[in-house]
This record gives sequence, C-alpha cells and structure tokens, in this order.
Amino acid sequence: MVIAIDGPAASGKGTLARRLAAHFGHAHLDTGLLYRAVARDLIDRGESLSDAAAAAAAAAALDVGRLSDARLREHRIGEAASVVSAFAPVRDALLAFQRRFAAQPSGAVLDGRDIGTVVCPDAVIKLYVTASPEERAARRHREASLAGEDADYRTVLDDIRRRDERDESRASAPLRIAPDAVVLDTTGLSPDQVFARALELVCAARGAGQGATERLL
Ligand code: DC
Repeated sequence: MVIAIDGPAASGKGTLARRLAAHFGHAHLDTGLLYRAVARDLIDRGESLSDAAAAAAAAAALDVGRLSDARLREHRIGEAASVVSAFAPVRDALLAFQRRFAAQPSGAVLDGRDIGTVVCPDAVIKLYVTASPEERAARRHREASLAGEDADYRTVLDDIRRRDERDESRASAPLRIAPDAVVLDTTGLSPDQVFARALELVCAARGAGQGATERLL
C-alpha cells in the first residue's frame, strides 16, 4: 500500500508521514531530502543554483545513501532545494528512485509536493496536509527558538509565503491538490489530533479499497 502525502512547507506532513509509516510498518521517504541533497551537492561543488544542466547532473549522480546528513535540514538548503526543484530534468532524474521506493512490498509512505499528482498517481490514499501560512510560520519560529536560533517571526512568514509561491507556480510538477486527495487542514490541531484524523482517513480508504477488491472477486 502506498500513502501519498503532499503539502506546503511546515504543514506537518513530515511528522504525520513518519507516524503513519511507523504505525503501518511501512517504509518512509521524505522526498524533500532528495531535492535538498541535490542543492547541497551543487553548493559544495561551488556551482550556481541557477545552472539547470549542473543541477540535472547532480540529481543524476545523487548518492541516496547520504540523506541522513544533518546539513540537509538547514534553512538555506531548503531554500536552495526549492530553486533547483523547479528544473524539469532534476525532477525527471529523481522520479525512478521515488517510484522504486514506493513499490517495495512492505508498503511505503512518501511525502513531498507532487507525490499524489506525479510520483504515485495511483496511490489508494492521498492526503494533502496544509495549515495557514501564519500557523506554519509560528511552528517554524517556535522550532527555531527552541533550537536556540535567532529567528524573527515576520521573516519566517515571508520565507514561507515566498516558498509557497515558488513551489506552486513552477511549470514542472507544481504543488497542487490532486483531484482525489483528501485535504487535511491542521490549523489549530495538535500533532496527535492530525495523526488521529489521518488514521481515520487511511483506514476508511483501506476499507473502501478492500470492499472494491471483494466486489471484483
Ligand atoms: O519539504 P521540504 O521543505 O524538505 O522541500 C524542500 C523543497 O524541495 C521544496 O521547497 C520544494 C522541493 N520539493 C519538490 O519540489 N517536490 C517534492 N516532492 C519535495 C520537495
């Protein structure tokens, strides 16, 4: 079974994806890390983030064994990932790996921006996790403050809005709600409440899927 989770930055989709994967014993892939790793490799080689050919080459040569690198979580790498992810050849180079990951027999949960629309269009369960920009900025700001970083709420909010705009307006696989996705607005909800609601949706979709299979037999 594949659970496809999409949504904008800081919507809580990563936390939800991890919890669902643990609950169902599925593998989990945070696909944002792939784009972040491409951006990291470009930066480390001193290449320009606007060089589409260099970005595509970095994506084609990506070592997916290095996704646990703590640097990938850095804010500037996230911003750079948003830039390089707009290049179609970069997306194409990462597609086969994501689809192979999704196809593993143990089942998989993938989260990102285009999982339900492009990577796994046939996923039985598609969730689009979102929250207001203000709530997402407040969450990011709180995390940064707890980590001892000197972050300004207004700057975080502006960053979130700019990132949304870039991810939604690019020509290649923009952030969109798949027509068959269920929208889960997490504004005002705790992570536990989000998980409980998602669990209901997944179980309902699984039940419906089983019913459909039984009807076919
Ligand atoms: O989810 P994240 O913040 O780690 O993602 C970083 C950037 O990567 C995001 O701004 C857009 C890009 N991305 C994408 O284009 N497609 C995905 N499936 C995942 C991330």
